[in-house]
Amino acid sequence: MFIAMNSFQVKADQADAFEQVWRERESFLSEFSGFVGFQLLRSKPSEPTEGSELPSSVTFVSHSTWLNESDFLEWVNSDHMKKAHSGKSKTTGMVLGPPRFQGFEVMMNQVAGDRRDYRSTHQDIVVEKNFVRESKEQIALREWAQEKNFPAIRIGAFEGQLLETLLRANGAKKGVEVGTLGGYSASWILRALPEDGELHSLELEADRAALVTEKFKELGWDNRATIHAGDARDLLTGPLSDLKDLDFVFIDADKASYAQYAEWAIPRLRKGGLLLADNAYIWGGMEYFPNDPETLPELAHKSQKTFTNNQYAGMRRCWKLLSEHPELSSIILPTGEGLGVAVKR
Ligand SMILES: C[S@@+](CC[C@H](N)C(=O)[O-])C[C@H]1O[C@@H](n2cnc3c(N)ncnc32)[C@H](O)[C@@H]1O
Repeated sequence: MFIAMNSFQVKADQADAFEQVWRERESFLSEFSGFVGFQLLRSKPSEPTEGSELPSSVTFVSHSTWLNESDFLEWVNSDHMKKAHSGKSKTTGMVLGPPRFQGFEVMMNQVAGDRRDYRSTHQDIVVEKNFVRESKEQIALREWAQEKNFPAIRIGAFEGQLLETLLRANGAKKGVEVGTLGGYSASWILRALPEDGELHSLELEADRAALVTEKFKELGWDNRATIHAGDARDLLTGPLSDLKDLDFVFIDADKASYAQYAEWAIPRLRKGGLLLADNAYIWGGMEYFPNDPETLPELAHKSQKTFTNNQYAGMRRCWKLLSEHPELSSIILPTGEGLGVAVKR
């Protein structure tokens, strides 16, 4: 994805008029192929500094998001663009100084808004926007999670529908999820499970587990889903160690323990069972695969790539397991965050 950003300083008393002119542009943009979204942000008016001749001003920042840079450049050179700007003379008297322009590739998913992706592929954005259908309950569940201040680290609807599709293809009935959060991914898993399906979802934070348990009861989903509170590393080797003949295990929790969860899952999956691991790219960290964690450049996990050495080490072990284990056939699907998919032979 590509974002073009413009920043303008506008005379405060002209701010409303400026905003109106600038918003009109959106209707032009939305007709153009490759355009994804537009945002206009407006600051509070600044007070003029003492002794300065400058009037009070407002800063506007506009973002237009494009599938890629070439779509944006096509727009810039189009007649369409000229038409959209034909009324621009109206704004000349409003703006203090020239607009500042910046264009950059996006590291954030601008469509889902609250989802942090390492890098969204064009396809997943287009599909999530136009193809994926959340149920009313799922939309309400997301809103409820937001009200309850769950962090916005759930899977996206794209990954949800992918999960549902894979599990349906697999005829899944019984499985485990590591990392419940607000129950959103569980809601997609439940869409795939039959009436007598059985989902065990594990959550470290007791208050999260309690809230989801309550919510699933209210939704009538508790007959198929049990939320287990506690550290998955203890739950899986303790009370849940006897689980077997599983159709799937979906891992979406602490990245450092992914290999441990995968090792637990392999002997417990039935033949043809699925092992699914979200965030398999750990926000760019796996570009260093298969280097040893100790050899990573110091800067690699300090800049925009927000993974730690432990997360890299855990995911590296998980990748090795998926790619080398004699009982698995695996791939990493190139979703925004990477989805490890392994089927037991
Ligand atoms: C990315 S969120 C899960 C999102 C959820 N699967 C969804 O998409 O709706 C990760 C969750 O895993 C939980 N978690 C982290 N470490 C864990 C552990 N050791 N055992 C169980 N849960 C853990 C966190 O508390 C968090 O709620």
